[in-house]
Amino acid sequence: MAIRTIREEDDEILRKKSREVEVIDEKIKTLVDDMVETMHKFDGLGLAAVQVGVLKRIVVIDLYDDKGVIVLINPVITKEKGKQIVEEGCLSFPNKFAKVERPEQVTVEALNINGEKIKLTGKGLLAQAIAHEVDHLNGEVFIDKIMPGTLEIVTPESQEK
Ligand code: NI
Repeated sequence: MAIRTIREEDDEILRKKSREVEVIDEKIKTLVDDMVETMHKFDGLGLAAVQVGVLKRIVVIDLYDDKGVIVLINPVITKEKGKQIVEEGCLSFPNKFAKVERPEQVTVEALNINGEKIKLTGKGLLAQAIAHEVDHLNGEVFIDKIMPGTLEIVTPESQEK
């Protein structure tokens, strides 16, 4: 396991579309392990492979609740319901937070790390996380869909007490 470098801000890879995973081999499993470790290291709720420079359709999510780490390979959102306006951030845009509109409920189909088909429905924060991470796989970043006037930049200095 290893911490990988997170691609940030204007890195053009963040705007690229990721490709499907064809075989879940040892290399993919190592990548997933590293993504989880990297997400935890930086206290993220989710991470897409593109954020560590790999254009593959893989996301990991951890809301630090009883669901544990969720690994979604080749995720496809099959259903969305409702809307929520939520505060959001992204490990690729450190210190930036803003309000975005997300579906209130999302159903996603994917493969897990063992290559088994899974179907997951999330509400609230989980729906937000799934939508945010799947956006990454399509080269979309939250900063492009924020509600005007809601961007907050939290500098390390302003966090000091
Ligand atoms: Ni993100």
